[in-house]
Amino acid sequence: EWPRPLVAGNWKMNGLKSSNEVLSEIQVGYTPGLKAKVDLVVCPPATLVHSFAVACVGSRVGIGGQDCHAKESGAFTGDLSAEMLADAGATYVIVGHSERRQYHKEKDADVCVKAVAAHRAGLTAIVCVGETREEREAGKTLAVVRKQLRGSIPVDSNSHNLVVAYEPVWAIGTGLTPTAADVAEVHAAIREELKRLVGKADHAKVRILYGGSVKPSNAAELMSVENVNGALVGGASLVAADFLAIAGAY
Ligand code: G3H
Repeated sequence: EWPRPLVAGNWKMNGLKSSNEVLSEIQVGYTPGLKAKVDLVVCPPATLVHSFAVACVGSRVGIGGQDCHAKESGAFTGDLSAEMLADAGATYVIVGHSERRQYHKEKDADVCVKAVAAHRAGLTAIVCVGETREEREAGKTLAVVRKQLRGSIPVDSNSHNLVVAYEPVWAIGTGLTPTAADVAEVHAAIREELKRLVGKADHAKVRILYGGSVKPSNAAELMSVENVNGALVGGASLVAADFLAIAGAY
């Protein structure tokens, strides 16, 4: 059955070699029953991608990067290419996270070329979109999200190489979440927009994740909303029991 729910953990700039223990706990808790229901992906910092990918061989926990450069290689000090992430064992990469858009001034066009790079390397791009508090209060949420989608999603996208994550910026790390009705409204608009961007045949199958203060206590409600096909989890993904509880909300 597709779209299969996907719960992805974005560790952001957290995690050391010792975090292997968290990954082991996640693997142990990813029981056959849970595997049957939901895909799990962990996106650790780049320093851990390879060791995590090696540790996950055979366990069906996917590994993802948190960002990539558009080019395959070259004189770009400090950057990582999608090919490098794939070579290290990643199968996913997050692009256009609001923290990249904010702190690294990434625009939709930058995000789009990164998603193209992800596809070139055989990775699934998790493209993030979402409005700020000011934009929501001004009633611009749907317009902002639609514009970000049009600018950030490459033309070669399909339900296997693209995942969309809706993350209202004001809900990230704040403990605040939109109402189920608000989430439903935005996810329906994203689905509608995908019809134009990935084509009529495949648009219904693209996974649309909700992200922003997802916790074990609110996961069931958020995940039951129409067109919510999983979660992009930040803080709670650093605790194996919480991450697994969120996945278990399906
Ligand atoms: O990528 C994950 C999001 O930014 C959500 O972070 O769950 O800590 O609010 P959070």
